[in-house]
This record gives sequence, structure tokens and C-alpha cells, in this order.
Amino acid sequence: MQEELEALLQRRAQRRVGRALRCLDRVDSTNNELKRLGGQAPDGLAVLALEQTGGRGRQGRSFVSPAGQGLYLSVLLHPRCAPQQLGGLTAWTAVAVCRAVQRVCPLSPGIKWPNDVILAGKKLCGILTELENNPQTGGASPVVVGIGINVSQRESDFGPEVAPVAISLAQALGGPPPRLAVLAAAVLDELDALYAAFPAGGAEYLADYRQRCLTLGHPVQVLRRGVPKEGWAEEIDGEFALWVRWKSGQRERLSAGEVSVRGLLGYV
Ligand code: BTN
Repeated sequence: MQEELEALLQRRAQRRVGRALRCLDRVDSTNNELKRLGGQAPDGLAVLALEQTGGRGRQGRSFVSPAGQGLYLSVLLHPRCAPQQLGGLTAWTAVAVCRAVQRVCPLSPGIKWPNDVILAGKKLCGILTELENNPQTGGASPVVVGIGINVSQRESDFGPEVAPVAISLAQALGGPPPRLAVLAAAVLDELDALYAAFPAGGAEYLADYRQRCLTLGHPVQVLRRGVPKEGWAEEIDGEFALWVRWKSGQRERLSAGEVSVRGLLGYV
């Protein structure tokens, strides 16, 4: 896998994401692996595993990662920006994943706010971004960006709870998915382009995000500490926050991480 992937990566002199690459057969979590390497890891180091035994999702959930069925990839970034500019990085990553999928498949994914990548109303990919505390760096801390893409699962592979809300590339294509190395190379190329543009090129990523955002213009149910409230998703602002108009007519700005949002007519 490592050799095939290295051969597929675009050879840019300025390349940072994926210049250093580690492919593992099995690991607890590719995010954990990068965190263990900590300060010694070079900027842009990518870790990819064929299987994760303790894959992690957002809000403490687990991310089931069976051998060979998905792309499990994490990259370590040392963004040169103020810490408060890091907020948009996960949303940028969602755009990069959409572009990568589109490059290697005849599919055009959308995004469910804040950063689930969606096909046919179901979740194709989840992203877990974690900040590493490193007080020595002065500026922003290093960041671990973890990406999990469903690639070759069939409905029965997801299990009865996950199947109604998850989809793989094989299901969406109705046929064989791209090879893992081909998909991984496209994702790493798009992440490298993202990293080169971050944070100055925000307007272009924001425009693409807004175009792909399936939450916008739809009724939503917002869950805050388990309490549901219904409203209308009106706007994504310059920091990728979602503005919702409640039934009372009042508007509120929602930040990723503080709430979870569901469509009223299904998952999206
Ligand atoms: C989510 O949707 O809740 C985020 C899922 C993120 C899963 C990826 S797979 C690679 C990396 N390693 C992990 O343990 N998690 C992320």
C-alpha cells in the first residue's frame, strides 16, 4: 500500500501533506498514532491504516473501522495562523474530501453542517479534528485531522442502527469503488492544496462549502444537551457557524461542537 500510494501522490516540490507517510495494517486509531508521535512528527505526516481497532468519532462516539472496508487516515498539521483561525479547518477538510471523491468517482458529495460528507442523504465520511497542546510553538498548536470514508461496505456491513444513515462509495456507485490507494492519494493531494491555501484562501473554500451545504435552506432539529428545538437553517457565516431562525422568529448563531443538527425529513 505504501509504495503504491507514494507512486500515486503528485510530486510537488512544496508538498507538505503526505511528504512523510506511514501505512499500517492495523492500529487502535490513526489519530492516536499521531498523538503518540507528538512533537517528533514532521509537519504534514500522514498515517493511514487498513483497520482501526479503536476508531474514534466526534462527541466521544466510536467509529467502527473494519479491515479494508474504509479509508482511515490522519494528518498532523502545524498551521501558521492565530489559534482562533483554526475553527474553520474541519469545514475546509470536508470540502477537500468532497473534491477528492469527485476526482476519483462520478459523484458529487454534499456537506451536512458542520462537517459530515454526504451522498444520497447518508453519511459517507466523518472528520475528527483534535488540537495537540504544545505550548512551545507560540502560535497555533499542532492539529490532528482524522478522516474516515466508507468505501466498500454493503448495507449488512453497517449493522441495523448505522445502515439507515450511512453509505459507502460502493453503494453510491452501485459497483466497485476506487482502490484505497487511489482514493487516499486524491485525499492527500486535496489536503495538501488545502494546507497551502490555509488560512488566506478562505473565501474560495467558504464559497464551495456553502454550495455543497445540504443543511442550508432546510428545516432542522437542533439538539443542545439532549433538548430538541426546531428551526430553519438560514445562513453559514464567514466562520462556518450556522444561523438558525427559530419558530419564534428569533435568529441564533450556532457553532460546531456545541449542538447537533438533524434534518426534519431525514438524516440531512
Ligand atoms: C465522526 O463522524 O464522528 C468522525 C469520525 C472520524 C473517523 C476518523 S477514521 C481516521 C481517524 N481516526 C480515528 O480514530 N478517527 C478518525
